[in-house]
Amino acid sequence: DTITWDVQAAQKGGHKHFMIKEIFEQPKVIQDCLCGRLGTDLDEVRLPELDDLPGTPKRIHVVACGTSYHAGLWGMYLLEQWARIPVQVEIASEFRYRNPILDPDTLVIAISQSGETADTLAGIKLARSQGLKVLGLCNVVGSSVARESDAVLYTQAGPEISVASTKAMCSQLTALLLLALYWGHGNGNLDEKIHRDVVHGLRNLPDLLESTLPALRDKAHELARTFSDVNSFLYLGRGLHYPLALEGALKLKEISYIHAEGYAAGEMKHGPIALIDPKFPTFAIAPDDELFPKVKSNLVEVQARSGQIVALTNVGLDLDVPHRWDVPRATGPLSTFLALPALQLFAYEVADYLGKDVDQPRNLAKSVTVE
Ligand code: G6P
Repeated sequence: DTITWDVQAAQKGGHKHFMIKEIFEQPKVIQDCLCGRLGTDLDEVRLPELDDLPGTPKRIHVVACGTSYHAGLWGMYLLEQWARIPVQVEIASEFRYRNPILDPDTLVIAISQSGETADTLAGIKLARSQGLKVLGLCNVVGSSVARESDAVLYTQAGPEISVASTKAMCSQLTALLLLALYWGHGNGNLDEKIHRDVVHGLRNLPDLLESTLPALRDKAHELARTFSDVNSFLYLGRGLHYPLALEGALKLKEISYIHAEGYAAGEMKHGPIALIDPKFPTFAIAPDDELFPKVKSNLVEVQARSGQIVALTNVGLDLDVPHRWDVPRATGPLSTFLALPALQLFAYEVADYLGKDVDQPRNLAKSVTVE
């Protein structure tokens, strides 16, 4: 008799790679991150983890690397908008050596999936040596970031095996959203109606995402066949979707080895526009928000130079591009939770189509514990 399965295959739960399994786990990841913090019996966020900190911070410095850094940038938009707390987001390897001016009223939020990233840990030590409090946003229980921080908000994504981070970012965004709701509601800066709508939207988000993922994958699969032979991709987004453009580009280069760069759409005219031609496609994140008309006009510029465009957008929006990718609408910033898996799935499908080692991309490590 022969055994026709192995442990790894069993752990992948029928999926070809850990990455695709983890992308599809995101509805549950959101649910788990909300668990106990926004129960159905509560109409506001509860974060007892913060009890050891001195209350709503006056200022925030976010310190992180890689995908976690992109999550931090996204968090900055919400924390500033809803809680009106000034936020600065820093790449940990820069922060640790630039002798930053740190005020003891500032809270440092260190974001790390693994909790073992050397530069992020060095950032935490620097901040604490100057008397600042540190909140760790971290996935691995008992990790170094968790141990070195004054308080820890676990992101509850479960073990992430694929080197390219997917569900961990989803959990970090959920945690940052909870923080923005919590502080914004607590200090009275967040409009009551927005608070109510987002809380309601958050509760429905896991189901909405669950029912949307199969169609997102089909579309990613189809687009991957159109675009897998390009040398370079430009990702554009504005506001909350600018960090997503950075993350979409990072995912594509990490696992497919196709060069990609993420840009704030409004900056395109200051450089990347010179590169636009039929062989240099643009991937735009253009959902229905107040900046949509601006992104649209950036895309008109791309089309005028015969650039191909893939645009993640919403049904009913007036946008005429060759590769339109309509995703369902979600309440305000929750649209991010639908755009993110679309970007991940596109990168995944391209890499898989090209036969790359999706879960173990060359030269990359899951956790970088040295400088
Ligand atoms: C490595 C991983 C990335 C991750 C980054 C930060 O580069 O390959 O996926 O985003 O480290 O890791 P952390 O564990 O601190 O979030």
